[in-house]
Amino acid sequence: MSNGAVHPEPHGHVYGHYAAPKWPDAHCSGKEQYDAMYKESLAAPEKFWGRIAEKFYWKKKWEAPFHSYNFDSRKAPVNVQWFIGAETNLAYNCLDRNVEAGQGDRVAFYWEGNDLGEDSTTTYSQLLAQVCQIANYLKSAGVGRGDDVTIYMPMIPELPAAMLACARIGAVHSVVFAGFSAESLSGRILDSKPRVVLTCSAVKRGAKPISLKGIVDDALVKVTAGGHEVDTVLVYDHTRAATRADVAFTPGRDVWWQDAVSEQPTTCEVEWMGAEDPLFKLYTSGSTGKPKGVEHTLGGYMVGTATTFKYVFDHHLSDVYWCTADCGWITGHSYVAYGPLLNAATQVLFEGVPTHPDAGRAWDIVDKYKVSLLYTAPTAIRSLQSFGPEWVKKYSRASLRILGSVGEPINPEAWLWYHDVVGGGRCPIVDTWWQTETGAHMITPLPGATTLVPGSATLPFFGVEPAVLSEKGEELQGECEGYLVIKRAWPSGMRTLSGDHARFEATYFNLYPGYYFTGDGCRRDKDGYYWLIGRVDDVINVSGHRIGTAEVEGALTQHDRCAEAAVVPMEHPIKGQGIYAFVTLMQGTEYPPPPALKKELVATVREVIGPIATPDVIHWAPGLPKTRSGKIMRRILRKIASKEEDSLGDTSTLADPSVIQTLLALRGK
Ligand code: WT7
Repeated sequence: MSNGAVHPEPHGHVYGHYAAPKWPDAHCSGKEQYDAMYKESLAAPEKFWGRIAEKFYWKKKWEAPFHSYNFDSRKAPVNVQWFIGAETNLAYNCLDRNVEAGQGDRVAFYWEGNDLGEDSTTTYSQLLAQVCQIANYLKSAGVGRGDDVTIYMPMIPELPAAMLACARIGAVHSVVFAGFSAESLSGRILDSKPRVVLTCSAVKRGAKPISLKGIVDDALVKVTAGGHEVDTVLVYDHTRAATRADVAFTPGRDVWWQDAVSEQPTTCEVEWMGAEDPLFKLYTSGSTGKPKGVEHTLGGYMVGTATTFKYVFDHHLSDVYWCTADCGWITGHSYVAYGPLLNAATQVLFEGVPTHPDAGRAWDIVDKYKVSLLYTAPTAIRSLQSFGPEWVKKYSRASLRILGSVGEPINPEAWLWYHDVVGGGRCPIVDTWWQTETGAHMITPLPGATTLVPGSATLPFFGVEPAVLSEKGEELQGECEGYLVIKRAWPSGMRTLSGDHARFEATYFNLYPGYYFTGDGCRRDKDGYYWLIGRVDDVINVSGHRIGTAEVEGALTQHDRCAEAAVVPMEHPIKGQGIYAFVTLMQGTEYPPPPALKKELVATVREVIGPIATPDVIHWAPGLPKTRSGKIMRRILRKIASKEEDSLGDTSTLADPSVIQTLLALRGK
């Protein structure tokens, strides 16, 4: 498929260009159309976004399409607003609007359970009724406009339905990924202080069932100790083999979903909300401190997620879309719950893992539902690649049309395998760069318009104006490498951090006033293509999920034998990055200690944060390389973790240079 042209990739290989297919009915067909639309989106944003926003239902129209491109926190607080004065509702736009337009019998969700043979279908009308019932129940439990609701559920249709139910009544959902520990869950509940928590008895991911209700119970003990009480826990019965009697229940607080929700009316009035009212909070890791509650509002988020979904996946009503992300992450918010439903898309929801019961499961699902648009992460691609092409080739995959990638830079080897083996060389790959904070795709190809180069996220989406800064904050021109920043507001961006606008400005705007700081490094080539290089802060990207080094260090030091810990990223063949932890034990310990201690430390991290933060390597460190002022020199630790100790660089500022030899002697011990 490569048209043979060469392109200078940073990897030093030449992979060629992949020209966009000629699709006359593509929403954006050809580079000229992209160029024209992109140009207009920057030159006349009011007109551009106003025209797109007209397609949605607004109870009340906006007075102005947006306010403030001011990203200079020195001049005035950063206060971005879109569709000012407008009123709308996301659930109405996702459901009622589509049903009224004759899409009621269209499938919204094909649900595929963890085990083979478990499946169900939900149409748009059914989903609307289901959402209304949950919404009515929430109201009966005292939830109203602006109230927080925490959702801790697996990938069953009731999860996006619960999110939409909150949206319908103006409540603010906070979905916590059901792989996080009781401790992480309690921290998020204590931050947003909901009166109601929605959960599920158990989930099966792969072979083993996990009791989610048990984790919620543990979390709520910590929440009570932290000074907050949750009044109601609504529990969806999904135990399969087990009976309800096996699930611990607190009378007066816990309620079975199937009993309480099914008796509610199937219609529920819409709560019309301001375009800048909060829609949800989603917690994500930063370089320091506890996870940040990223807050998104209604209007701009609706327009941004729907528009990117339409153009980036070139969505047509004949498509079947499958995004493998969980609703516990931003990808599941923007590209399972909202973007697709706003476009009346038919999608697959999958509860399990793509390697259960065997490595052909993903392709079996593609064939079973005739999936045409597949959106997944490089870590999943690499993992499936490691089982060999036979598993893919057993299935037809003839329905596939477009393949998407998200979460981390995709290495060209994985890109080519995805393109050549999975897509049979027929399907363009959209490598979408964005963040929890940006709400929607920012730098991405458009399948019918953009020439692809493996490993590059290519060009900015409409309305997105990126720039590359040097360390000193100068804007670099042409071909360059530096920090990726964004120069002006776009509709779907976060508006603040939950309860902490000062931290919002400090994290994203104060370092380089006038710009939104992404935390990513990037290179721009001579064609203006962007190549994401990875985080420039202390955030590790494990399987496309952000883990703060400080969080893992904090978890390790909760073990009573750990005195200090320093965590750095390491290269990992499947996960992209892994977690490498240097651990100093309490005074008087002999190194290396008995091997069981490593297991205990790993178990502590899994308990405090969750399995996604499991350290890959624990390296004993009787001393850590520190400067005279006591700052840990992570640069040196990164070199040791990647076995590049021959190029440690300048070590003259170390307080005690001998720690290096001691560290090297303990490698693998
Ligand atoms: C960070 C955001 C966006 C949804 C999933 C992750 C990295 C994300 C790409 C990509 C290179 C990527 C960045 C970004 N990232 N997509 N296509 N190419 N890097 O959301 O947890 O907020 O993480 O993921 O480092 O800053 P998130």
